Amino acid sequence: MKAIIDKLYNTQNLDREEFLNLLNNFDTNISEYLFSKSREVALKHFGNSIYTRGLIEFTNYCKNNCYYCGIRSSNKNTERYRLSIDEVLSCCKTGYELGFRTFVLQGGEDNYFSDNEIVDILKKIKSNYSDCAITLSIGEKSYESYKRYFEAGADRYLLRHETANEEHYQKLHPKSLSLSNRKQCLYNLKDIGFQVGTGFMIGSPYQTMENIVEDLMFIKEFSPEMVGMGPFIPHKDTIFSNEPAGSLELTLLLIGIVRLLLPNSLIPATTALGTIDKNGREKGILAGANVVMPNLSPVSVRKKYLLYDNKICTGEEAAECNHCLQNRMKSIGYQLVVDRGDYKYK
Ligand code: SAM
Ligand code: FES
Repeated sequence: MKAIIDKLYNTQNLDREEFLNLLNNFDTNISEYLFSKSREVALKHFGNSIYTRGLIEFTNYCKNNCYYCGIRSSNKNTERYRLSIDEVLSCCKTGYELGFRTFVLQGGEDNYFSDNEIVDILKKIKSNYSDCAITLSIGEKSYESYKRYFEAGADRYLLRHETANEEHYQKLHPKSLSLSNRKQCLYNLKDIGFQVGTGFMIGSPYQTMENIVEDLMFIKEFSPEMVGMGPFIPHKDTIFSNEPAGSLELTLLLIGIVRLLLPNSLIPATTALGTIDKNGREKGILAGANVVMPNLSPVSVRKKYLLYDNKICTGEEAAECNHCLQNRMKSIGYQLVVDRGDYKYK
């Protein structure tokens, strides 16, 4: 098994059988061996610096009905909210003072926000904070819409592919959504010039190890600038409410693998990882992640943006979260830095 990890380290790739072998047969020793390599690669590219992104969850309205997601349209128990432009700008102000130089505008697919409105928000943030990067994460849009967002100042876009297997995709989403359209969106975003993030949940219902191999092969082929991977966590108001959460060990293993597949990619230690294990984010960094995404949304709306149950950091002010994360990173020998944290093209 160590020979497979050495091959991944030396060639930045594996074939289907090798991936499967590693996923099916890893144990603590193998994971530790992998992490020693993935951590070394992360340290080589980023030192002990951890990039921060201030997450602003500006709407929890969504027209989609993804089976796993707590803010899906058919969940009548979610109290819906939208932030005004002024509220978004106020989150940015708080974040800027805390040292964030990337703001992530994330939300459900909410057509209330027209392209003009999104463009307006982007331009206002950019005119106030010209030294900051903006990441959008608002789902599937047309090529023309993405282009307008890019021209208005959006630098990056997060759109997880969720699963690279067509059949599995259909088990997680209603018929109105398709893997082919999602992939087309990802290629459109890349073509326009965004730094693009994709990714998937670990342990989503019906997921097999073969599916994960397909995810890894898609990620290698697409070669995104960012890769978001977190455990699936059930939400009580979804049809997957009784499904088990994804595993910490497998999530960490995948962070390590992706660090070796795409050595200078930006990989977050996600909030979901911090939710299934109280030191999950630290463990994610030690497995090769190099980004954290603390929440900048007003505390008054945090508990309404629940994609899954028991989400952490829903009661704290942004400053408290930042302080907590700074200490967590220090405890493992890393530090949060004031930096846009762009992808470095070679
Ligand atoms: N609407 C945008 C989109 O679909 O890309 C952004 C928001 S969406 C809620 C962000 C991500 O949350 C999804 O890509 C999904 O992977 C993750 N997510 C949703 N429900 C989850 C759950 N129950 N457990 C873990 N992650 C979840
Ligand atoms: Fe739309 Fe989750 S179903 S954001």
